[in-house]
Amino acid sequence: MTQLILWAAIGYLMGSIPFGMIIAKVMGLGNLRQIGSGNIGATNVLRTGNKAAAALTLLFDAAKGAAAVLLARAIAGEDAAQIAALAAFLGHCFPVWLGFKGGKGVATFLGLWLALDWRVGVACCLTWLVAALIWRISSLGALVAAAMSTIWVMVLTDARAFILGVVLTLLVYWRHHENVARIRTGTEPRIGKS
Ligand code: G3P
Repeated sequence: MTQLILWAAIGYLMGSIPFGMIIAKVMGLGNLRQIGSGNIGATNVLRTGNKAAAALTLLFDAAKGAAAVLLARAIAGEDAAQIAALAAFLGHCFPVWLGFKGGKGVATFLGLWLALDWRVGVACCLTWLVAALIWRISSLGALVAAAMSTIWVMVLTDARAFILGVVLTLLVYWRHHENVARIRTGTEPRIGKS
């Protein structure tokens, strides 16, 4: 039990690194809170017009989720890996460094699934890509990928991973409630538009 709490703490701390904010600051792109949706994720970094910064944010936010899982699994096994995955996601969404006002967790969600089960991760990435290409709306791609992830997890993994998958999907939907409202009213910006 103590070990799982330790991995929850390590996963949270890894997930809480706000790479979008750091990259935007280092590359002189301004304060993400005052740009677009105000979110700290790659989609909002893209609204600065800097594609490289957006790609780096996507990469690093995914990598921190994957790294938390791989580290926990290597040292403490699969239970610790699943706890670290959930904690990394929560760390991204509620980072102590930003007064617990973080991102929506999509890149971290993709990264942690790639590490937990690469088949689920690849299926989620492809689902996001196809949905985003069809509708040209990043959040809608994320919502479709999160919903579909429960099916990929059910088909490809076990019951314990399925419970984690459902929890993560619900969290993704909760974090996107404002996007869902904008999608419903047709006001959600399309990729490449502010
Ligand atoms: O990764 C977050 C994305 O799904 C939505 O971001 O900035 O459009 O709210 P944003």
